[in-house]
Amino acid sequence: MNKTLTLLFLVGILISCTKEPAQLLVTSPNGTNSIDFYVSEDGTPYYFVNNNNKIVIDSSSMNFDFKNQKSLNGNLSIINSTTNTIDETWEMPWGEQREVMNHYNELKVELEETEAPNRKFNIYFRAYDDGVGFRYEFLPQQGIDSITIMDENTEFQLTEDYTTFWIPGDWDIYEHLYNTTKVSEIDAISKRDNADLAATYIPENAVNTPVTMRGADGLHLSFHEANLTDYAGMTLKVDNESLLLTSELVGSDRTGYKVKKELPFKTPWRSIQIADNASDLIESNLIVNLNEPNKLGDISWFEPKKYVGIWWEMHVGKSTWDYAGSQDMNTFTNDLKPTGKHGATTENTKRYIDFAAKNNIKGVLVEGWNTGWEHWIGFEDREGVFDFVTPYPDYNLEELNRYAKEKGVEIIMHHETSAAPRTYEQQLDTAYQLMNQLGIHSVKTGYVGKIIPKGEYHHGQWMVNHYRKVLETAAKYNVAINAHEPIKATGIRRTYPNAIAREGLRGQEFNAWSADGGNPPEHLPIVAFTRMLAGPIDFTPGVFDIDIPGKENNSVNTTLAQQLALYVVIYSPVQMACDLPENYEGQPALQFIRDVGVDWEETNVLNGEVGDYVTIARKERETGNWFVGGITDENAREITIDFDFLDDGVDYEAIVYKDAEDSHYKNNPTAINIEEIDISPGSSLTIPLAEGGGFAISLMKKHD
Ligand code: NOJ
Ligand code: CA
Repeated sequence: MNKTLTLLFLVGILISCTKEPAQLLVTSPNGTNSIDFYVSEDGTPYYFVNNNNKIVIDSSSMNFDFKNQKSLNGNLSIINSTTNTIDETWEMPWGEQREVMNHYNELKVELEETEAPNRKFNIYFRAYDDGVGFRYEFLPQQGIDSITIMDENTEFQLTEDYTTFWIPGDWDIYEHLYNTTKVSEIDAISKRDNADLAATYIPENAVNTPVTMRGADGLHLSFHEANLTDYAGMTLKVDNESLLLTSELVGSDRTGYKVKKELPFKTPWRSIQIADNASDLIESNLIVNLNEPNKLGDISWFEPKKYVGIWWEMHVGKSTWDYAGSQDMNTFTNDLKPTGKHGATTENTKRYIDFAAKNNIKGVLVEGWNTGWEHWIGFEDREGVFDFVTPYPDYNLEELNRYAKEKGVEIIMHHETSAAPRTYEQQLDTAYQLMNQLGIHSVKTGYVGKIIPKGEYHHGQWMVNHYRKVLETAAKYNVAINAHEPIKATGIRRTYPNAIAREGLRGQEFNAWSADGGNPPEHLPIVAFTRMLAGPIDFTPGVFDIDIPGKENNSVNTTLAQQLALYVVIYSPVQMACDLPENYEGQPALQFIRDVGVDWEETNVLNGEVGDYVTIARKERETGNWFVGGITDENAREITIDFDFLDDGVDYEAIVYKDAEDSHYKNNPTAINIEEIDISPGSSLTIPLAEGGGFAISLMKKHD
C-alpha cells in the first residue's frame, strides 16, 4: 500500500469509528453483572444492564429538566472515560455483620453538550457482584452558581412483566401495606385516601423504593437509591404498558421545584440489587457500600440495646400521651388539669425501669413526658407547641434518670416534632444539650402529620436536609437518632452511624388501631425483602397479649412464636419489647427476649421467598452465641435448618420456641412449645410453622 492509500484508509477508519456509537462497558469483579453505556446518534445517553449475559434492564435513557435553562436532553458526546477498581473491607461499628466487603469496578463517563451552552456532565457507574449503581455529577457552568431541577428522568426499562412487591409512591409516608402484582397491574392511585394516615400524598402511578421484583426464572431485582443527601427522594413512575420505570422526584408545592443545588454536585446513587434468589437480596450490602465511610469516628457512646417503653399502652388506649387529656384548643393553657390517664408518670416509669433491669433490657423509652401533647393530632397550628426540655408536672426527669442509671438502664428520650421541623430545629441544641448532661444517648423522633410549612413533603429536598441537620447536630452531643415518620433509609448509617434505626413502614402500632384490623401475616415476609434492604427497622416486636383485649377489631396477626422470631429476622440495633410489663409476667417465652442479641458478628439468611417465609441466623458479637428466627405468612409450612453455620468444636445450649400443633394466628396465637434440644454443627432440624407462625432458637455457648 502506498502512503496516500494508507492515509486514505486510516481516515476511512476514523470516519467510520466516529459514526459508530461509542460503547463503554463495566463488568462486576466476578463477571456476573455488567453495565453498557452509549450515546445515541442524537446525543442521548443510554445504559443497559446484563446479569449472567441476560439483559435485565434494556436501553434506558437519562435526562434532566431545569428551571430557566434548557433541558439536558440529547446533544451530548463522550469526551473521556476512565475506570477504577476498589476492593476493600470496612467495619460496621454496629450492624448485621462486623466486616463488609466492598468490591466493585467503576466507570466514569465525561460528557459534554455539542452545542451551546456546552454543559459538562459526568456519570459514574459501579458494577458489583450483587447489583449496580450509578449517579450523576453536575459540573461548574460559566456564570451560573446553582441549578434548579424540575425533573430528573432516569429510566429503567424492564424486560419482563415481573411479580412486584410494591407500596405506592407516597411523597410523605411509607406506612402502607405491600401489594403483590405484575408491573403491568401496578395501580398506586387506588391506594389514596387512607384514613389511617395523618399525612399521605400519592400524585401519580408511582412506587416507593426499595421496590422488589421476581422474574419467572427466579431472578430478583430491587430498585432503590443510596446516599440521599441534599436532594429530593426518588419514587418510580410506572408505565404499565411499556414496563418502563422513570424516576419521579418528590417535589414541593411551596417552591414549585424538585431540587435546588449549588454547582458542582453529585446526585444520590440509583441502585439495582440483583440476585438469583430472594435470600441473597438480604445479604447484599450494596446500599451501604454506595455510601461514604464513617464521618463520626468512634461512637462507642451508643450501645445497641433492647428496650421497653411507655408506648404500647397509649396505642392500645390504656393511657394517654397528654397530661390534661384534652385536645380542645381552649384548654391549651398552662392551667393543666390532670385526667388521671397520663402514661409518663414518675411512678409508671419506675415500674418499666424495674422490669427492664430484671430482664436484661438496657433501655426505657418514655413517650408523653414533655409538654405540648394537648395540642397534637388534628391541630393545624403546631409551630411552637412542643417543648423538648420541659417535663409535665408528674414526670421527674432528673430523678428518673438517676434511678435508671442506678439500675443499669438508660432512658431513651422522645421528641415528637408533630411535623413542625422549624420548631424542632430551634430547640435542637438545647434539647440535645440536656440529653448530653443527663447521659442519655438516644432519642426516638417523630414527624406525625403534614409538614409545616405547608407544601413540603416528608421526602422532599427541604425535609431531607432537615433530617440530616438533626443527625449532624445530634452527633455533636453524642446522641443517636431513631426516627419515626422518617426520611427513607438509603444507607446513611454508614456515614453517620448515629442514624441507628427508623420506622418508615407500617409498624406494629397499626395492629393496635388500624381500621383494617392490623398487618396481615404476609406483611413482614414482604418487608424483609423490601424495606429491610434499605436499613434497620424500628418495628417494635414482642407483643405477648396478641388478642389485644379491649380492642375488639384489632389484634396482632401472628403467633407468639413469630413475635420472638422477629428479634432475629427484622434487624435493628435497638429492639423493643413493646408489650406491657404485666403481659410478660410469668411467661416462659420471655426468656428468649432476655437472651437474644442485638449486635451481630455475622448474618446468614438460610432461606426465604418474598411474601412467603424467611429464616435468618445471626451470631452475636462478643458472646459468639447464635440466634435463629423464622417467620411465615398465612400459610403453615415446615422449615428445615442445617446447623452447619455453627462454630466447630463449640457446645451450645439450644432452646427452641415454636408454634404448638394447634397454633394459629387467628384463633390460637399464644400456644407455644419451648424445648431444650441438642444441636451441634452438622445437626439438622425440621420445624413446623403454624399459619401466621414462626420460631426462634437460641444457641448459647456452654460454659464449663
Ligand atoms: C407515631 C410513631 O410511629 C409512634 O411510635 C409514636 O408513639 C407516635 N407517633 C407518637 O409520637
Ligand atoms: Ca408511625
